[in-house]
Amino acid sequence: MIGEGTLLRLEALLEGRVLPRFLQLCQEVGQELRSGRVDFPGAFRLIRSPIHGMTHWVRVGCLGLGIAEAAWGGDDRKDDEESLLLAAFFHDAARVNEHLDSGHGRRGAALLEACAEPLAWPSRIAGPAADAIRRHQGQGGEIRHGAGRVAAALANADRLDRVRFGDVPVDRLMHLDGAWQDLLEPACRLVDRVDEARVRRAGLLAALAPARE
Ligand SMILES: [Fe+2]
Ligand SMILES: [Fe+2]
Repeated sequence: MIGEGTLLRLEALLEGRVLPRFLQLCQEVGQELRSGRVDFPGAFRLIRSPIHGMTHWVRVGCLGLGIAEAAWGGDDRKDDEESLLLAAFFHDAARVNEHLDSGHGRRGAALLEACAEPLAWPSRIAGPAADAIRRHQGQGGEIRHGAGRVAAALANADRLDRVRFGDVPVDRLMHLDGAWQDLLEPACRLVDRVDEARVRRAGLLAALAPARE
């Protein structure tokens, strides 16, 4: 998967996997928040942010699946790919500001775990997703040790989307998955393709109003 072919593949993942699953998640999680069964003040506060909001979560999900497809191999990817989609959806969902926000990984994992029981997500899916979210703020050597493939793919996808700031990922902060370098150029082009208008058309902003403060 290189260049144009990679971009087409990411588009297919976006339309076929990420947007439909995220719409379902918006509807399911939104219902839990509105019902009060999940009580998490401030959840999804930054959903409309162009920096850490839905457009970023969608691109991270898409790039994460791109990494999974290129690097994981085998036929047993289904559960880990579902964990990765959950992790992408929730990883910045409990942010309270656009800066470092040092606790947002821990809070994002707690938000996912609060949704897991009422939505009957099995621990084999929710566990790796929550672990990946807790780890995604790690830096330097911390990210290279003990991270499973879901955590590694989330962290790399998150850092690949730093192209939205005009940055390139810092090599020493990336997991060695053998896939992320080929996604760098397509990641740049994904920034323009996944904008607020597109996530709005996909229904991802209407179904998930921020929880009460
Ligand atoms: Fe984050
Ligand atoms: Fe992020």
